[in-house]
Amino acid sequence: MKIFIDTANLNEIREAASYGILDGVTTNPSLMAKEGHKDIRKTYEEICKIVPGSVSAEVIATDYEGIIKEGRELSQIAPNIVVKVPLIREGLKAVRTFSDEGIKTNVTLCFSPSQAVLAAKAGATIISPFIGRLDDISQPGMMLIEQIVQIYSNYGYSTEILVASIRHPMHFVESCLLGADICTMPFKVIQQLVNHPLTDIGLEKFISDWKKNQ
Ligand code: G3P
Repeated sequence: MKIFIDTANLNEIREAASYGILDGVTTNPSLMAKEGHKDIRKTYEEICKIVPGSVSAEVIATDYEGIIKEGRELSQIAPNIVVKVPLIREGLKAVRTFSDEGIKTNVTLCFSPSQAVLAAKAGATIISPFIGRLDDISQPGMMLIEQIVQIYSNYGYSTEILVASIRHPMHFVESCLLGADICTMPFKVIQQLVNHPLTDIGLEKFISDWKKNQ
């Protein structure tokens, strides 16, 4: 299981990278705007310096020509940039072109297994199903992951399944059990994966017992 952080906050990326468990970063226009990043190129250069693994940079354009222009520019920033493209008709066309040019893609805003099949057929490097947003509308997000894992296995698609819109540690655990390739999580959820009350209680007791013996 690869662990990505879903943020454009440089301090959070640095902190998560320092744990030695971080495989990549995903961003989106909302996350970039939240941090107030205006110089997109400089921000991605900085992120790619912190994290040598996959860094997803999303296009803003929604037409084929615009996506291609933006995606080619983004892909030039660093060798580890993966161009994030929305799962729309123009996006699929662009993913096919990028795939033929050897540019890696992360197809985002996937909410159905049929969309995931099309992304794989277009040559996507990564597919990003959004599970939390499905849960939000009372549809079982994890079921989508189960279905995509099964379908990709049936046909031997090499597109990696990145579970996105993760809201809590059980989304991560269930993704691991289903055999998804990557989970991208907010900094808060990465912290929650580490924490366990029995670890804290146990450590406190070890230290106090040792001190009593001094
Ligand atoms: O970056 C894509 C995805 O992870 C967004 O999550 O919490 O905005 O649904 P969320």
